[in-house]
Amino acid sequence: MQEVVRIHGVAHGGQGVGRGEGPDADPRVWLVDGALPGERVAAARLREAKQMIRGEALEILEPAPTRVTPPCPHASVCGGCSWQHVDPAAQIELKREIVNGQLRHLDVEVRRAVASPKVLGYRRRARLHYSKESGALNLGFRRSRSHAIVDLDRCPVLDEPLNHAIAKVRALVDFLPAVGEIVGLSDGARAILGLPGVPPSEAIDAVIRETVLDEVLVGVALRGRRQRHSVGVTSMAIDGGGGTIAMAAGPFVFTQAQAEQNELLVRHVIEAARPRDKKVLELFAGAGNFTRALARNAAGVWALDDSRESISYLRLLAEEWQLPINAKHGKAENLLPKLARGAQGYDVAVLDPPRRGLGSRGCKALAKVVGERIVYVSCDPATLARDLRALVDSGFRISDVSIFDFMPMTPDIEVVATLEAV
Ligand SMILES: C[S@@+](CC[C@H](N)C(=O)[O-])C[C@H]1O[C@@H](n2cnc3c(N)ncnc32)[C@H](O)[C@@H]1O
Repeated sequence: MQEVVRIHGVAHGGQGVGRGEGPDADPRVWLVDGALPGERVAAARLREAKQMIRGEALEILEPAPTRVTPPCPHASVCGGCSWQHVDPAAQIELKREIVNGQLRHLDVEVRRAVASPKVLGYRRRARLHYSKESGALNLGFRRSRSHAIVDLDRCPVLDEPLNHAIAKVRALVDFLPAVGEIVGLSDGARAILGLPGVPPSEAIDAVIRETVLDEVLVGVALRGRRQRHSVGVTSMAIDGGGGTIAMAAGPFVFTQAQAEQNELLVRHVIEAARPRDKKVLELFAGAGNFTRALARNAAGVWALDDSRESISYLRLLAEEWQLPINAKHGKAENLLPKLARGAQGYDVAVLDPPRRGLGSRGCKALAKVVGERIVYVSCDPATLARDLRALVDSGFRISDVSIFDFMPMTPDIEVVATLEAV
């Protein structure tokens, strides 16, 4: 059954928020996939909750001026990007609206919104899924709301080296398990791939060397049954622009989705943190994206991450550039209560957790050990709002919120909140 819904806002997940039209309309709020603020759509229900109906737009009865024809031919089925139908110029303002909506209870608004320099061909890191069917590889992103994989010969948001690498990996079909994932990293000119769950063997090594590697796809890292094996070059120096030293990374460690925006993000984080001569605590440091710049003039950076591989890259970076970095492997939620009980304090903290955030308990402990300033980088405005509430309740005030769009064509957004001790 179709119902007419008038859309007036945008939800955290990118769906249109609206109300049913007509005298018999259901009074609950609708969250509609594929609908934009200002539109009238015919929607079908997908799921219902006490106060909300989750639906999808079947027909756009009155389109918004921000609606465009999706540039990607797979947009109607692929779950990789849910905003292909949104004018790229309008995306940053919709993201600002999402973040302001999540932070409204904290009485703060986004001050600076930095749009992505590129809207297609920007993505230098990707995780794709595959399954084997009749001896061929079904390789791409999952369909929206499904586990099925949309087979892609190329993806318009990935950069050229990644598209090239992903096309070449099809030659390895006979060595791959029935289902799996492929991770890729590019430096803009060359790409490397990681194949988790694929054990090394002489046969796969030979095929990779003879038919897969070339001047663009320069390495494949295999991980299977506790065995690790690299064919070709499997780590690369990335993001050395704007006066920042390059960092080494491989396909299995976290790196930001695009290089251009990352240069601006790192600069913003350093300006916000003001680390000169300060004792800095960095949580969720990864392979050292912010650490390398913080440590240039901090008294010292104590950096933590729970990926052993990221921490080894970070230690190499510290050694090579003689930076005052103490890089530790561990979990933030285990470390913080210990720090809060001890006498050790820090002037500044920088943290960049995954989507789940730090959590209220972690934030309360963090507030106890930081004397001046916290810079919180988040990829989920909802968990950020929860954590900011805990930090504000623990004696900090939010002095700035800025957003950086790393993922055009999706509702994803990076938010940086700066807090000062009061
Ligand atoms: C969003 S990434 C940020 C990495 C880095 N700041 C960057 O810009 O590349 C989050 C990082 O948190 C790490 N991580 C995830 N859970 C963690 C935990 N419980 N404790 C410490 N680090 C964790 C991951 O390994 C990953 O490197």
